[in-house]
This record gives sequence, structure tokens and C-alpha cells, in this order.
Amino acid sequence: MAVKSTASKGGRHKTVFSCSECGSQAAKWAGQCGDCGAWNTLIEDIITTSSKTAPRYSGYAGESAVCNITDVSVVARARVSTGFSELDRVLGDGLVNGSAVLIGGDPGIGKSTLLIQAIASLSQRVGTLYVTGEESLQQVSMRAHRLGLASDKVRLLAETQVQRILALADKEKPGVLVIDSIQTVYTDQLNSAPGSVSQVRESAAHLVQYAKQSGTSIFLVGHVTKEGALAGPRVLEHMVDTVLYFEGDASSRYRVIRAVKNRFGAVNEVGVFDMSEKGLREVSNPSAIFVSRHQEPVSGSVIMVTREGTRPMLVEVQALVTESHLPNPRRVTVGLDQNRLAMLLAVLQRHGGIAMYDQDVFVNVVGGVRLSETAADLAVILSALSSMRDKALPNDLAVFGEIGLAGEIRPVQNGQERIKEAAQYGYKRVIVPLANKPARPIKGLEVIAVQQLVEAIEQL
Ligand code: TYD
Ligand code: MG
Repeated sequence: MAVKSTASKGGRHKTVFSCSECGSQAAKWAGQCGDCGAWNTLIEDIITTSSKTAPRYSGYAGESAVCNITDVSVVARARVSTGFSELDRVLGDGLVNGSAVLIGGDPGIGKSTLLIQAIASLSQRVGTLYVTGEESLQQVSMRAHRLGLASDKVRLLAETQVQRILALADKEKPGVLVIDSIQTVYTDQLNSAPGSVSQVRESAAHLVQYAKQSGTSIFLVGHVTKEGALAGPRVLEHMVDTVLYFEGDASSRYRVIRAVKNRFGAVNEVGVFDMSEKGLREVSNPSAIFVSRHQEPVSGSVIMVTREGTRPMLVEVQALVTESHLPNPRRVTVGLDQNRLAMLLAVLQRHGGIAMYDQDVFVNVVGGVRLSETAADLAVILSALSSMRDKALPNDLAVFGEIGLAGEIRPVQNGQERIKEAAQYGYKRVIVPLANKPARPIKGLEVIAVQQLVEAIEQL
């Protein structure tokens, strides 16, 4: 097979194009893999030819000796605060030294803003280097100035070649390194354009390896597009220790950051921020903002207590049920799983005797929050029922619970904590699964424990 070889400082290396589906290799790029016929799967790759060349990244390589798990000395890794308690919590109580953190999100959602604010705060405690590949030094500096940040100790670099970035970082020896963004960084070893899957993967591998060797923490910024058309940061998820994603849309004021992977903390932990003219501000009581608290009770609205990561949170689920003129009535969800809605409506028909086959059903979670847990089931069903009957639920009612296919209400995790959260925000009544009923009564709170869907419906 003919492979192209180039000489560079790191030694001789060759590049091939390998198929990400079947692994077969080709000398030239093509739209379709000649072996398996998959489209758009050929990715440029480096093959190291001799052992003399610089070793290629190959995951974490420790000492190669077998030992007993209890014999490994465990040292708690030092953590440093980013200055945002919301961000610290999502990271798992601060930024761990030598960790690699990927921050993903749509363009314009606030990744650069969050990082310049965090870096300014971090620079008061550790050395920091902010590498910008997207904005000019003037733009970054102007933004820091406009946000009124104490950024006199922040070191800046405008560079996109990964070897040069690492050479300079080696001189500066920062405690925290920011790469904004990984899509602009490239290595000379590959010919593909910056932002392509192979460039993103290879550059990130160098950076992550540097972080592990030097003990520097790195933040990698990555853009994701809705279609995932651009070489998204998804290919990096397995390389880094922590993956944070910005949720919600750029048009709303609130920004939710969720940990989707974390080697040093809980996943699904969320941090809530408010985008203001002075940058991002943390919201420490998110329960207060995702609930619209209508003056008068309105139909189709139900407050539920969700638990994201380690914190319970009140969110509002809204439903609209209207007569359908379509052969296939619509089941539309925003912030929830659509299939789950279809399943719940089937359970309601079979075990509650209420059919919505001639109705369009729309369900939305207020504030751009995404609910992935099954504890939302009860709220979804009750809001749909409330809308269909145009009957409002009381203002001071909160619910949670999973619904099984047999029409039973199943318990969810951390019921006590959820009930307490509702009581704390002034709710007077909760409908909860029987198994989540607290052993002792809570003052000022009526707990309605239900075991079957019909019992919950009767409460309406
Ligand atoms: P930015 O951090 O540049 O987004 P990203 O790096 O994720 O692409 O955020 C840009 C958006 O944030 C832009 O639409 C304007 C808004 N913004 C504010 O509303 N207030 C501010 O103080 C700043 C700095 C940005
Ligand atoms: Mg940016």
C-alpha cells in the first residue's frame, strides 16, 4: 500500500486514511470506503513507523506491573475553586489538578464568557494561560475589561498549532490552560483541515497527554452543532476526564451546564447561570426560576420535583391537549422523551380509562430544562389530564413519581430530599409514590401517597 510520508521535528511518520467503520486503510481520501461501502468514514490517521519516533498517545499508561488494588497508595488530588460555586459543583467540588475538561455547546451560548470569568478568578490562585484560536487578543482582552474582571495575571496566547502551544505552555508552566477552541487547533503531522475529526482527535490527544504529564488542568472548548455536522467534540469524550455541556438555547437568559461524564464527581449534576450584560452570574436557587408561579391556577401546568445530579429542583411541566384533525394525532415533547409520552398516554388509556387518541398532545418543560428521569411521568400525565379537562391543579401542589406499564406508581430515588425541597419552597401538598412517603409527617405539608394511577387521577 502506498503511504505518504513526511519528515518533521518529531521524527518520520506516515499518514493513511482509515475507515472508522471497518478499519480498512487507504492511501487517498475518498467519499466512500472501498471495503465496507460506508460513506464519509475515511479519517486521516498517523502511523508511527519506528520506535525511535515520539510515542503516540495511547490512553493512560502507568507503570506496567500487576499489583493488588489495596496496595495502591491513594492521594487525594488537589482541587482548586474556579470562583463559581455552580461550576465547582458540576466539576465535582472544584477543578482537579491535571484533569482535562471538555466544555461543549452551541456557538454563542457562552463558553468563552464562562471561561474568561473562571480564568480571571483562578489567576488569583494559580498560573493561568488562555489560548485563543477564535478571537483575537484584543477581543479577549476587551471582553475581560468590559466584564470588569481582575485579569491582570491572566496570560494570553493567540496560537493554533498544537506543538507550538505546548512548547510555550512548557515555558509558562500554567496551573490551568484553556484552549478556545479545540476545533481551531491543528497538528502539522496531519494534512486535514483544522476542525476535521482527525485533527481534533490528534490535537486533543497531545493536549490531554500534556495535562497528565505536567499536572496542568486543561479546559478544551468544543462547538457542537445541532446536526452534529461539524466534527463535533463527541470524538473527544472518551479522552478527557470530564465532559460538560451547555444546555438550553442561546435565546433564553438562563444557561444550564450539565456534567455528562465526570471521573471526579457525579454525572448529571447541573449548574445554572444567568447571562447578563456583565457576563454570566450564577443562580444558586434554580428552583425559584424554572417555575412561573401563575397568580391564578392554570390548567395544564404541574410543578414537579426533579433531581439533577445531587440537587433537587422544582420545574414546571406544561401540557396542551387539543382536538386533532390529523389521522395520526401529534405527540410533541420539548425537554422530554417523546416515546415516553406515547407510552404514558397508552397506560392512561388502558389503566385510567381516559383516551386521547383523537387529541394532539404537546408537553413542554419550562425554561429549556431537559428531564431525562422517569420521575417526571406523573407530572406529564397529570398536566395532560388537567389540560384536557381544562381543570387547573392547585397552585401549592408538587408531584413526582414513575408510572409503570401496569398502571402502578413506582418509587423514585431520593424521595425524602424532593419532598423537603417542595416544603422549603412553600408547597402545601405533594403527590408522591407510596414507597417514597416519609416516615414522619412534615410540618405544613400534606403528603398524598399513591400506589395506582387511578388514585392519582382521583386527586384531580
Ligand atoms: P460567547 O462566550 O462568545 O459564546 P461561545 O464562546 O460559546 O461561542 O458568548 C457570546 C454570547 O453571549 C453573545 O451572544 C452575547 C452574550 N453575552 C452577553 O449577553 N453578556 C456578556 O457580558 C457577554 C460577554 C456575552
Ligand atoms: Mg467562543
